[in-house]
Amino acid sequence: MGGRLPDPHPSGGLPSQVTIWEVGARDGLQNEAATVDVAVKAEFLDRLAAAGLSVLEATSFVHPGWVPQLADASDLLATLQRRRGVRYPVLVPNERGLVRALQAGVDDIAVFASATESFAQRNLNRSLDDQFTMFEAVVGKARAEGMRVRGYVSMCFGDPWEGPVSVGQVVEVGRRLLALGCEQLSLGDTIGVATPGHVEVLLERFARAGVGGDTVAVHFHDTYGQALSNTLAALRCGVTCVDASAGGLGGCPYAESATGNLATEDLVWMLDGLGIVHGVDLDALVETSGWMARRLGRPSPSRVVRALVG
Ligand code: HMG
Ligand code: MG
Repeated sequence: MGGRLPDPHPSGGLPSQVTIWEVGARDGLQNEAATVDVAVKAEFLDRLAAAGLSVLEATSFVHPGWVPQLADASDLLATLQRRRGVRYPVLVPNERGLVRALQAGVDDIAVFASATESFAQRNLNRSLDDQFTMFEAVVGKARAEGMRVRGYVSMCFGDPWEGPVSVGQVVEVGRRLLALGCEQLSLGDTIGVATPGHVEVLLERFARAGVGGDTVAVHFHDTYGQALSNTLAALRCGVTCVDASAGGLGGCPYAESATGNLATEDLVWMLDGLGIVHGVDLDALVETSGWMARRLGRPSPSRVVRALVG
C-alpha cells in the first residue's frame, strides 16, 4: 500500500493553503450503529494527529440519550493525550454541555444551528428562533472563558422535510450566529444535495453580506457524490477551511438521508493534485482509515482509501 500520489497540476484562482477540519471522530462516529470503545476513539484521534491533521473535532457534549455513541465524551477527553499545536474542538448545544466541556478542559467548541424550522425541532428540540436563545448563553460564556467558538449551519442546501431552503434564510441564520460571537461559520450540506452552482450562489450571498471566505468553512456530506465538486467550487470562492471525515465516515442521526462526509483522503488527493498545501500525510491517513474500518467491521466508502488499499 501507499506511495502513489497524483501528479501536481496547479490551477488558477485557488488558495495556496487549506485547513482540513477533521470531523471523523464526531460526525463519523456519532452515526455508527456499533459502540466504539473509548480507547479506540482516543487512538483514532491520535493517529489522525500523527498523520498531520491539526484540527480534530473530537466529540459532542450533547444529551447522552440523543447521541449515545458520544455519551463517553468526558471519558474520551480524559483518556486522550492532547498534542501541542493540535486543536480538539467539540460540539456543545447548551449551557449544560458547556459546563461538561469546561470540566473536561476543552477550549474550542462549536454550536450547531439549523437553517430550517423542521431540523431545529428534530435536532435541538427548539424552534428556529429558540435555538439562538440557547446558543446566546453558550457563546457568551464560552467567549468570556477565552474559548474559540465555531457556528455550524445545517440544511444549507435543502431539507428532507421542507425541501428547498432559500439562500437568504441561510445567510440570516449565519449572520445571527456571528452576531452572537461565533468566529467562524461552517455551512453544512447535511443531506448532500448541494451542487457547485448552488455553493457559489450561497457563498456569493454571504460575501455580499460582508462574510467572506476567511470566515466561512464548508461541510459537505457525499450522499449524491457531489462533495468534492462542491468543495472545489467553494475553494474557487475563497474558502480555505474544509470539513472532511477520515475514510468518509459520517451522517447525522436526526436526518436519515444524511450519509458520510466528504472523505478526508479524497480531499487530500485533490489538494495534492492541485499543489495546495494541507500538511497531511496521505499514506498515514489511509492506514488509519483502514485500521478504523477493521474496527467498525465494514470497508471505508472513500474512493481513495479503496484505490490505495485494494
Ligand atoms: P432537551 O431534551 O430539550 O433538553 O434536549 P432540556 O434542556 O429540556 O434538558 C432535559 C434534560 O437533559 C435535563 O436533565 C438536562 O440536564 C439534560 P434533567 O434536569 O431532566 O435531569 N441535558 C443534558 N445532559 C447532558 N448534556 C447536555 C444536556 N442538555 C440537557 N448537553 C438538546 C435539547 C439540545 C440537549 C438535545 O436536543 C440534544 O442533545 N441534541 C443534539 C443532537 C445532535 O447531537 N445531533 C447531531 C449533531 S448536529 C450534526 O451532526 C450536523 C453537523 O454535522 C452539520 C451538518 O452536517 O449539517 C454539525
Ligand atoms: Mg455533518
